[in-house]
Formats: sequence, C-alpha cells, structure tokens
Amino acid sequence: MIFTPASKPLHGTINVPGDKSISHRAVMIGSLAEGDTEISHFLPGADCLSTIECFRKMGIQIELTENNTHVLVHGRGLHGLSAPDSVLDCGNSGTTTRLISGILAGQKFSSSLTGDESIQKRPMNRIILPLSEMGAEIRSENENGCVPLQISPSHLKGICYQSPVASAQVKSCVLLAGMYAEGKTSVTEPALSRNHTELMLRGFGAEVTSEGTTATITPEPVLHGRKLTVPGDISSAAYFLCAGLMVPDSEVLLKHVGTNPTRDGILRVIQDMGGSVTYRRLLSDAGEPTADLEVRYSRLHGTVIEGSLIPILIDELPIIAVLAATAEGDTVIRDAQELRYKESDRLALIAENLEAMGISVDPTEDGMVIHGRRNLYGGTPAAEGKPLHGAVIDSHKDHRLAMSFAIAALAADGETEIRDAECVNISYPDFYRDLQSLSE
Ligand code: S3P
Repeated sequence: MIFTPASKPLHGTINVPGDKSISHRAVMIGSLAEGDTEISHFLPGADCLSTIECFRKMGIQIELTENNTHVLVHGRGLHGLSAPDSVLDCGNSGTTTRLISGILAGQKFSSSLTGDESIQKRPMNRIILPLSEMGAEIRSENENGCVPLQISPSHLKGICYQSPVASAQVKSCVLLAGMYAEGKTSVTEPALSRNHTELMLRGFGAEVTSEGTTATITPEPVLHGRKLTVPGDISSAAYFLCAGLMVPDSEVLLKHVGTNPTRDGILRVIQDMGGSVTYRRLLSDAGEPTADLEVRYSRLHGTVIEGSLIPILIDELPIIAVLAATAEGDTVIRDAQELRYKESDRLALIAENLEAMGISVDPTEDGMVIHGRRNLYGGTPAAEGKPLHGAVIDSHKDHRLAMSFAIAALAADGETEIRDAECVNISYPDFYRDLQSLSE
C-alpha cells in the first residue's frame, strides 16, 4: 500500500475502537460467568475474534451484532466449558494463547492449542513454568517452548509466583489458573503491568487484591454476567496522538480513550517531550477511566524512556520511536528487551525501518538511541522540511509496525510503501479509513 506525505494539517474526531486487552478479557471472563454478559464497543479485530472462536469451540454461545462491536456471551459458569472437538486456534494472538492456557489448565478435559507462524515462534515457557509449578500438565508439542501446546487435566495448587518479566499475559494466565487451584494464588512482577484482568475479575465478583506489584486471587469465585462498555484502545489512539503532534497545525480529538494508569505511559512521554494533549472529559466504567483527548501539533524534543515506564507503554514504543525521529535531539529507549518477543522483533524492525527513512539509530540490546532531526524547527512550520524520507517498509505482518510507519509516511518527503499493510486487521480494521478521514 502506498502512502503520501501530509499535504495539509490533520483535523477531525476519531472514535477509537474498543480496547483489545479488555475485549479479550470480557469474552473469557463472560464465558466463565453465570448468565449473560453484554459487551458494547467490543473490538472486532482478528485477535479478539480468535478468542471468540476458541470459546465457541468449548460450548459457549456468543452472538455478534452491530458490525461485530456488540457481543452477547451466554456464560456457563466457572466449570461450564466443554471439551473442544479439535485444536483451539489462537491465530496471531499472544493474549488469547497465554490467557486461555491458564483457563485450560484448570479444566477436567484435555485440549491443544496452536496459532499462526508468528505465534509459533513466541516464548511460552514464561507460562509453562508457573503453570507447571501449580501442578498443571502442560507441554510444548515440539519441545521448543512454543505452541502447539497440549494441556491435560490435573489438580492445581495455589502458588506465590515471582514473575521474572513485567507481563500482563503471564500475570493473567497465572491468576486465571488460580481460580481453579487449591488455596490462594499470587503473582509479583518486577514492575506493574496492565491490570485489566484484576479489575474485570473484581467487577464480575471475584476476590482479587492488588498491593504494589502483587496481585492475589481467591479460588472458586462465582462470577456474575454483566453489561460492560469497552473503553477506546489507547494503543490505537496512540497513532493519531502522534500524527497530530507531528503534522504542522493539526488538531485531532480522540473520543472515549481508556486512560488506565497502567496503560498511559505514552501520555507521560508526550508531556515529557513538550507535546500538547488536553484531557476533555473524564469518566470511569467499572474501574477503567476514560477521557476524550485533544491533541495539537507541538514542537517536541527527545527524552529518556526506561524502567517501570516500559510496561505501561510497551505496545506504543513503535509509534513513540517514529515520533522521536521527528523530534529535536536524541531519544533513549532502555529496558525494552520484551519488544523482541512481540508479533515480530520490534526493536530490530523499528531501527531497520527508521534507518530506511533516513533516521540515524544506534540499536542496543534492550532498546535504541534515536537521533531526532535537529534544527528542524529553525523556521516557521510552513518552512520546515519533512523530517523523514519516503521508503519501502516491510511490516513483517506486524500490525503495530504497519500503523506506525503509515504515520511516519505523513512526515516523509516522498511516497512510502508499506508491505503487508492489511495486517492492521489484527487490532484496528478501520485504521486506514480513520487516518484518511483526518485529511478530508
Ligand atoms: C497484553 C499484554 C502485553 C501487550 C499485549 C497485550 C494483554 O503483552 O504487549 O499486546 O492483553 O495482556 P505482555 O504481557 O507479553 O507484555
């Protein structure tokens, strides 16, 4: 797909699609609840549809309406799943794979799960180890620590798990398994990762406590079906936040964006870089705060992104790196080695693609230094040159890379071609249409 530079300021309002992490969890927890769960503003991306298909295969009736953004889950209770008659296909979705494994470990039936080429390379020992410590029978079929996974019935016991990584997928997997264990289960992380599982389980009636970076669950909760509205995904809003900051004289309003403090690292970084984002309305639905965000073109400078900030902006690092490339001075990213284990090795591919667009990057083991365009702001905005060069970008079918570089293309001095651009379907099927709407 070919992208041309922005020829005028971006203006308009975007209703950001539903949060991916919360959409997955609503289907999973709704399936294990007693009675119906009605989910509004569900994300109809391929990843969340994979989760729905897996639960349908385990006997849960799930109805989709309103272009798949309204979901009715007929929950059957904590012990209501039935044995799937074939392998569960998690597609491209790490969240589906890791969270469902925790649930499957507690079932009285055997199951196997797999996924696409990318998911077959992603590390699963991070969940196999704690689940095995709980007594689960779970093994990697090819003994390479990846899917396909085979899970057999077993007796689970609660553990106090010290996770070596700040990962909400690991934490959630262990807590979900903890619902079926004997005794309480707790997970302590090196830094706090997104807490949607804890908030949602509590909202459905489970006893879950959080203290610092430790979350604890009491087993055998009775979960009650409910109505919920999924906030807009801050990870999807991130592309337009950055586009608005980068293209001179732009002003963009993003509606109903989730601003949970375990997800809002990008807002902190933008503020640090001198960007203007105004919170226009603050609401909270079941513990998940939501705001309208108004972003304006701003003159940005480099910053340092590291430590406990990393898990709360992990999925936004590709677009933050693009933003940093258009800022004045250097931006240092550290402690982000987790980015190597996402849908692609994002650290390597961010650096490679920024370099293709003429930006000097010094890659490191756990991050990179991005040398932003200096002296960019010597003249008036209209007199400024474009900070990047058009290039051919290989997305490696990674949705977040495709979207990040589509935004980079706005600030380039020629055409940019993005390969496998349709992979945005994973998390934001209408991304290109929404992007186009800001230039009309
Ligand atoms: C997610 C957690 C993060 C994130 C992923 C979604 C979740 O992964 O990158 O896109 O929904 O729990 P890790 O837990 O592996 O960091």
